[in-house]
Amino acid sequence: MNFRSRVYKLPWHFSYSAAYFCQFCCPYDLSADVAAAPTFAAAGRLLMACCPHFSIDLSGPLCFDRRGLLWLLRGTRRPGRIEERFYVMGSQASPLPDLFALPTHGGDLLGAEARFGRPPAGWLDLSTGISPFAYPLPTLAPECWQRLPDRDREDRVRRVAAAAYGVSGPDQVVMAAGSQAIIQALPRLRAPSRVAVVGPTYAEHAACWTQGGHQLSLVETLERAGDAEVAIVVNPNNPDGRRHDRRRLQALANDMAGRGGLLIVDEAFGDLDPTLSMAPEVRPGLLVLRSFGKFFGLAGLRLGFALAEPSLARALQSALGPWPVNGPALAVGEIALADHAWIASARGRLHREAGLLDGILTAAGLQVTGGTDLFRLVNAPRAWALYEHLGHNGILVRPFAAAPRWLRVGLPPGEQARARLQQALAAWV
Ligand SMILES: Cc1ncc(COP(=O)(O)O)c(C=O)c1O
Repeated sequence: MNFRSRVYKLPWHFSYSAAYFCQFCCPYDLSADVAAAPTFAAAGRLLMACCPHFSIDLSGPLCFDRRGLLWLLRGTRRPGRIEERFYVMGSQASPLPDLFALPTHGGDLLGAEARFGRPPAGWLDLSTGISPFAYPLPTLAPECWQRLPDRDREDRVRRVAAAAYGVSGPDQVVMAAGSQAIIQALPRLRAPSRVAVVGPTYAEHAACWTQGGHQLSLVETLERAGDAEVAIVVNPNNPDGRRHDRRRLQALANDMAGRGGLLIVDEAFGDLDPTLSMAPEVRPGLLVLRSFGKFFGLAGLRLGFALAEPSLARALQSALGPWPVNGPALAVGEIALADHAWIASARGRLHREAGLLDGILTAAGLQVTGGTDLFRLVNAPRAWALYEHLGHNGILVRPFAAAPRWLRVGLPPGEQARARLQQALAAWV
């Protein structure tokens, strides 16, 4: 790998007009945000936000084209100096180095500590869409820990999951250690295919299919999935809460079935509104993903499901291998998924809590543009600066490298946490 470094001496207010184009995130004009950045480092970080598919056209002294070139802008606090490093990688697109990279997942408290230091009052982690109101853990029999999970218990969990999600039988249920494990396994089941992901969305779909050697396109709407052989949509979507009409999904699933394709509907946040779910429609051409950890607030348990017609379900389950879910997770899942009273009351509670969060965000002058009852999406002109401000106050939210105006904010776990968020937002200028 060749490495070259150049230092430009530029006035801070160097004039440029920038146009950023990204087929995935739609065109952004970041000029106002770059101009408002307090330091070159912040401006550099802002520029780094452009997603990997972009081309950047600066009609000023700096000109980059990320296709075939991996670049890193480094600023210092001294105005007038900007260092530019190039890693020349031939025609290979490569992942960005970590220096200014924003987190790619929520919940990374170690990363947050490396960036902001350890907050004296401890972290208030609002960077995920995991419920802070967890299902009460039952006392488990020692065998759950001691013995390998047996077929009986796995079958019972499949039956309970089939009833909870509305599929016709346990032969349509695949279990795994979180739906992420299924997202990783699915690309291995198909020969290289044209895959369309409706986005922006949970980045692991695109990452896993790309890694699996498939040809990926990121599209903004279902209609643009066009002639893809695999289409992936998250419903409701993370992070913007976008919902997709069931009839449109049904039509696409039928179309997929007709030509041997597959529609994958990721309903990780589907427990919040069962009327949206495509699970009862499962048939050839359609696979639905469900996550256990988010709604039940037990993400560390690692439990997730795919719902699919029996032959695809068998292929997927066998790709995941024996004992895909540990004994304690099976035991908790079996009880929790059948606890209809708890599920109904959790839905109501999450809805109320999300309303309280809206109140705090809008009172702070922030625009809530979407979300689900497990998180809200804020559109703010200086979202990264706000992310840093909150981080320095021990509150972690989720920024997005590909969308510099977005912040995802999870539910505060009660009165005190809400007051802390309120205070930190009040101190934001
Ligand atoms: C849309 C979506 N799908 C799937 C997952 C994976 O969740 P899990 O593996 O915990 O089921 C996530 C996690 O954030 C997600 O946001």
